[in-house]
Amino acid sequence: MTILLNNDGHWHDQWRRAIERYIPGRSVIEYPDVIDPAVIEYALIWKHPPGDLERYPNLRAVFSLGSGVDYIDAYPTLPDAPIYRLIDINMADDMALYTLYWVIHFQRQLGLYAHQQSQAEWRRYVTPLAPDYKVCVLGQGAIGGHIGQVLSRNGFDVYGWSRNPKSIEGVKLVSGETGLSTTLPEMDVVICCLPMTDKTRGIIDKNLLAQVKSGAAFINVSRGAVVNEPDLLDALDKGQLAGAALDVFVSEPLPADAPFWTHPKVYVTPHMSGATNPDTAVQIIAENMALIEKGGTPQYRYIREG
Ligand code: GLV
Repeated sequence: MTILLNNDGHWHDQWRRAIERYIPGRSVIEYPDVIDPAVIEYALIWKHPPGDLERYPNLRAVFSLGSGVDYIDAYPTLPDAPIYRLIDINMADDMALYTLYWVIHFQRQLGLYAHQQSQAEWRRYVTPLAPDYKVCVLGQGAIGGHIGQVLSRNGFDVYGWSRNPKSIEGVKLVSGETGLSTTLPEMDVVICCLPMTDKTRGIIDKNLLAQVKSGAAFINVSRGAVVNEPDLLDALDKGQLAGAALDVFVSEPLPADAPFWTHPKVYVTPHMSGATNPDTAVQIIAENMALIEKGGTPQYRYIREG
């Protein structure tokens, strides 16, 4: 009845408290302090070392403490036990508010007004109405789909792109390469919510950015490596993009000499757009554990592609 805990070594006290509250009666062992691997039944992990999960013969399920699975994709081998992604509506809401903030920032040219304030300059521009302001969310998974809905509920004209056709209320869905190339030239803001996979690595490159409407803005809340960073900087320098709000980078923490820090059109945040909240996350995991104990199967099982 023991849980293995490893949130990449961070904030284990908070996680322990949440586990004690919502999954009472289980003992918790923090990685790497495992003396007897046979006692571990469940693992709550984030960026756990490759190969370790295979050491626990009685492992029943693995709960990853985030929605991205790129670190699991990189494991050379997987344990026999199923792995579940964390999809927490609170986290998705948090990310939706982050993107809403930046969409409003670009719609209302708030960066320009901040600059004008520094010059004591009083000059107004026309603000497009939200229904006339087109936003495309690339990636229509659990997070991207939710972000699109929240933006749409706030009045924006929202498009959602996914490889395969989908249907999400409030979002105009487009799919495939053709859907993307007909949509991008119309958009005022492009938001990246694509998962990081072999198919999406560097997908936002000069070819894709050249299709985007001149003067559009870009927001990235997925993974830095989905973007070709030199191509993104080039698009900003050439004025193809008017601005970018970036929460994720190829290299994190973003190195001190990275050009994004000082670029006048870039807003940098340190991968904080949708942090996992131990309290709400453990409640979801507790429900999923109870379901497993009753013989059920939770949602969002990780399936390795290819
Ligand atoms: C955070 O980046 C996550 O994937 O949950």
